[in-house]
Amino acid sequence: MRSDIVRPVRLADYRPPDYLVDTVHLDIALDGAATRVVATLAVRPNPKGRSGAALELDGDALTFVRAEIDGAAPAPETYAAASDGFTLHRPPQRPFVLTIETRLDPASNTQLMGLYRTASCTCTQCEAEGFRRITYFLDRPDVLAVYTTRIEADKAEAPVLLANGNRIEAGDLPGGRHYAVWHDPFPKPSYLFAMVAGDLAHVADEFVTASGRRVRLEIHVEPGKEGRCAYAMDALKRSMRWDEEAFGREYDLDVFMIVAVSDFNMGAMENKGLNVFNDKYVLASPETATDLDYANIEAIIAHEYFHNWTGNRITCRDWFQLCLKEGLTVFRDQEFSSDQRSRAVKRIIDVRNLRSQQFAEDAGPLAHPVRPELYNEINNFYTATVYEKGAEVVRMLKALIGDAAFRAGMDLYFRRHDGEAVTIEDFIACFAETGGRDLGQFMLWYRQSGTPEVKATGQWDAKTRTYRLELAQTIPPTPGQPSKEPMVIPVRLGLVGASGDLPLRLAGRPFDGIVALTEPSRTYVFEGVRERPVPSLLRGFSAPVKLVHELEEADLLTLFERDSDPFNRWQAAQSYATGLILRAVRKPDLPIDARFVAAIGTFLDDARRDPAFAALTLTLPSETDIAREIGVNVDPDAIFAGRQALRGAIGRALHGQLMRLREELAGAGPYSPDAAGAGRRALRNAALYLACGSGRAEVLAAVARQFAAADNMTDRHAALSILTLSDVPEAEPALQSFYERYRDDPLVIDKWLMVQAQIPTTGTLDRVKRLMGHPAFSIGNPNRVRALIGAFCSGNPTQFNRADGEGFRFLAAVVLDIDGKNPQLAARLVSALRSWRSLEPVRREHAGAALRGLAEAPSLSRDVSDIVGRALA
Ligand code: PHE
Ligand code: ZN
Repeated sequence: MRSDIVRPVRLADYRPPDYLVDTVHLDIALDGAATRVVATLAVRPNPKGRSGAALELDGDALTFVRAEIDGAAPAPETYAAASDGFTLHRPPQRPFVLTIETRLDPASNTQLMGLYRTASCTCTQCEAEGFRRITYFLDRPDVLAVYTTRIEADKAEAPVLLANGNRIEAGDLPGGRHYAVWHDPFPKPSYLFAMVAGDLAHVADEFVTASGRRVRLEIHVEPGKEGRCAYAMDALKRSMRWDEEAFGREYDLDVFMIVAVSDFNMGAMENKGLNVFNDKYVLASPETATDLDYANIEAIIAHEYFHNWTGNRITCRDWFQLCLKEGLTVFRDQEFSSDQRSRAVKRIIDVRNLRSQQFAEDAGPLAHPVRPELYNEINNFYTATVYEKGAEVVRMLKALIGDAAFRAGMDLYFRRHDGEAVTIEDFIACFAETGGRDLGQFMLWYRQSGTPEVKATGQWDAKTRTYRLELAQTIPPTPGQPSKEPMVIPVRLGLVGASGDLPLRLAGRPFDGIVALTEPSRTYVFEGVRERPVPSLLRGFSAPVKLVHELEEADLLTLFERDSDPFNRWQAAQSYATGLILRAVRKPDLPIDARFVAAIGTFLDDARRDPAFAALTLTLPSETDIAREIGVNVDPDAIFAGRQALRGAIGRALHGQLMRLREELAGAGPYSPDAAGAGRRALRNAALYLACGSGRAEVLAAVARQFAAADNMTDRHAALSILTLSDVPEAEPALQSFYERYRDDPLVIDKWLMVQAQIPTTGTLDRVKRLMGHPAFSIGNPNRVRALIGAFCSGNPTQFNRADGEGFRFLAAVVLDIDGKNPQLAARLVSALRSWRSLEPVRREHAGAALRGLAEAPSLSRDVSDIVGRALA
């Protein structure tokens, strides 16, 4: 784990493995600190590798016990075994069986990579390079093997023994022990290996596939939590059906298992047939989970399930191809949620998230291409760029070649590459074929980092009834990429007239609503334009770019009121609000534009038609959105004040209307997490938040009543947030009662930690420090750390970025502490500093000093030193 010399890994250096492993037989005997692993590998020289090469197996923190080749101990000079690798200097140049025994202590594994202990079980996490912490192996995704896993454990301690595939044998052993043998017939890379042993309860169900195969479904949880699995199970069944209908993909084993664990570095993991989940994304009840939690559970259950085809059946040749499985699978889960809920609403939420995470990443020192070409530490590339921008790239591909060719391309991909470890080129080749076009320029989306800027200028000519639209693209320089080539950018657009979309002709033909900009700039002349239109550009956010246009506020209002594209209706309101906040930041004394407030008032009259959409429209641009818009010399305090000014103006003018709307939407029967109910609650709470901007006592009283009387976590949590973040006297008793009520429920207590970490006042840093000593907090648990420290550093712009630098120094100290235990978690926290260069000089100096302090710390993990090094470069 500690390494002083960091040797970057380069895509250009890829070589096929010199040896292949056809089968793996793992015998894992759990026995506390002396857990024994015997791996039996059927090895053979790879015809595509270098003949006669040494066999170098990866290892990480392993204790070697013994090795055998074809059943005999090798001579000591023929091999080398260390904690970080096992080498056979001259392996047989024919198939042979290599047996290696190692010892492990899962309880001392605080990195949560490899085999580790969590509350009620011992489990594994192998992606990306955790398998080498269980046994020596060719721990790379292009070595596919068939796994058989025998687990042995104390029966009372670990009555449940699970691994990938189907269970083929089980039985009791002397001394209160028992065993189970699992076999997974599908060849897979080591990162998809999983086993779980523990005292778990489960709920079971069944799914019958399109071709009539019966699949047993199991969700395993800590005993007592079975009652919180129903939504996850339902989401799983809907995901399985959807993948059959939307992509023709059926499940392929007899059983599909999910295990929820309370210590997990990420959201969840798609191990073949045995997904392991952060319990935050499985457990839900109306009393403990918000609508957002439910939506996340649905999306992540789907995401991991969809990996069975995009990731597992077809996997990545190497880790540079990570987006091959992640971008594609995010695209698939986004499509699923769109079909299950509202497509327009889902799109807005996804774009909001893309902009706040990925655009920020792309604009700072950690920018990297969707397919990076070099890494120091692969764990640091599970990023918004690989995942979210990766999904946008797939979406653009679909937009460019059309729905039918896209589906045909996916079918071809599944047919051609099933069982293989492939590259982005292999993937794109399928669509070049079915779309009948050259996708060479499209590949730049995988290679060039940075968010392209598209500048639009338009002119209507009354005489010729034409509208000339010029689109020009530029791509800013990013680390390692000073200059860029023009990309292919799909721009969906329309022209909006007095009574909606105008019918258009382009180049003599009816316009189909989308152009592909391939040059640095191009002018499109639309014909038959009878009135001065307002251009509605980048509809549905058809490309992950920054659109720069010259629309005036009146034009934005036109789009807000009349655009047929819901995304751009929302975008128009956001752009208008962004402009107002920017003005308030620059000129705090000017009053807020009454026309916008009036337009919101008019909008409220109709808001009940689509509550979820209305809630998004009423959600003001975030402080981070505004900071990104400003770009340089950012002062988070000024942004906070500007945003509050707009909120206050809306609240003061419209509180009556907002509170009435909230009343009208109240309680239609018992809580249900479905999209319609969630939409109503979202709108009620968005209205309440804005009304609260008025500072009126009766509004605050309504919030306090909602907190006390809520029959679900969504409403209770929304009220708690409003009270706490508004820093009113009602906040402390609410926090107190919330804690008392949920003190035994760590996932709910995370919400309590999070909301306190986000209070935008100067006492918060001390509060966070105090809470780190609270019994509810644990520095070893990633969920707790993210809820308290992550929320403070990434979700509290004014207090983390304190002008005195205390927020940055706090982060650096915590990172050093956590780095000794869990480098992955530590590295993720540091990325809160990814936009440090855009701060105003005083804060920038403090942030830089904190980063430099980290860089100089002795024995930094590779994870943290990679992030810090790039942030400072
Ligand atoms: N592959 C997991 C997912 O997307 C993410 C993950 C990566 C989990 C690394 C654990 C470790 O869905
Ligand atoms: Zn994934």
